[in-house]
Amino acid sequence: DWQMSSFIDRSVTAIREKVGNNRVLCALSGGVDSSVAAVMVHKAVGKQLTCIFVDHGLLRKNEADEVEEIFRHQFDIDLIRVDARERFLTRLKGVSEPEQKRKIIGEEFIRVFEDEAKKLGKVEYLVQGTIYPDVIESGAGDAAVIKSHHNVGGLPEDIGFKGLIEPLRDLFKDEVRRSGLEMGIPAHLVWRQPFPGPGLAIRIIGDVTADKIRVLQDADAIFREEIAAAGLDRDIHQYFAVLTNMRSVGVMGDERTYDYTIALRGVTTTDFMTADWAKIPYEVLGRVSNRIVNEVGHINRIVYDITSKPPATIEWE
Ligand code: XMP
Repeated sequence: DWQMSSFIDRSVTAIREKVGNNRVLCALSGGVDSSVAAVMVHKAVGKQLTCIFVDHGLLRKNEADEVEEIFRHQFDIDLIRVDARERFLTRLKGVSEPEQKRKIIGEEFIRVFEDEAKKLGKVEYLVQGTIYPDVIESGAGDAAVIKSHHNVGGLPEDIGFKGLIEPLRDLFKDEVRRSGLEMGIPAHLVWRQPFPGPGLAIRIIGDVTADKIRVLQDADAIFREEIAAAGLDRDIHQYFAVLTNMRSVGVMGDERTYDYTIALRGVTTTDFMTADWAKIPYEVLGRVSNRIVNEVGHINRIVYDITSKPPATIEWE
């Protein structure tokens, strides 16, 4: 991909000139944009870049370890992984209102990030994974505009940065993916489906507990495995499990059970503003259902969400 590779060369040179001998900080989420931005800046300034990855405990199964593996071990990026799982769980305790969850997670994210950033001392530049569609959305030309809905809470402006580094500002999503692949980021990360900043907290209806997170992670991992095994992972644009807050009666062996319902959600869409429910083959749904009930505890019923957006949204919260 010579086009992308010459774009990358030019960007790397420009970043290097801008940064000089200064230090650069990046909030890594494991999402496509922040990952590609981080790798590009690292290519330009190496160890002058420090990435902070806030593990809020609301990522999908094994995701935090994968992020660490790729960035620390494959790219040798200076990465600080902050285990903030307890902090987030404590603040979310007993909270079930969706917007309240979002607000808490956004605020706590900024606090954790600031706490870590302060420990590093003076850092002059901040990397942001802003891409061209974000620039348009937020009003062109305003470099300081921070995505609040689609990034976890946005980032603090008062740490005293000299400026922002936004290497993806001119790129569309497919170009971001192409440059990611060109720089050696694994395909499964580059093609990752969108994942909301507040993570699994908004896929657990009602209050969030460590046990519920574990149940949902396991169910969701099975769903993703089977979708990939059926070769559908690029056709369905977003798919995930939701832990509903409803329990119902079931029977296992000779025992009556009273356990949770998992809802599966899968959509096809071009812009995520409207979406159609995905026509996943019955056999695949059947396999996912059997596996979840047999392999994950506390689940005795699986339903598939067949509403489009509108009137439903993609997420359940
Ligand atoms: P809805 O549920 O509104 O979702 O149809 C549309 C797209 O946005 C994602 N989404 C979020 N992303 N923070 C995010 O970063 C959020 O609070 C949030 N809520 C929804 C959702 O996953 C889908 O891709």
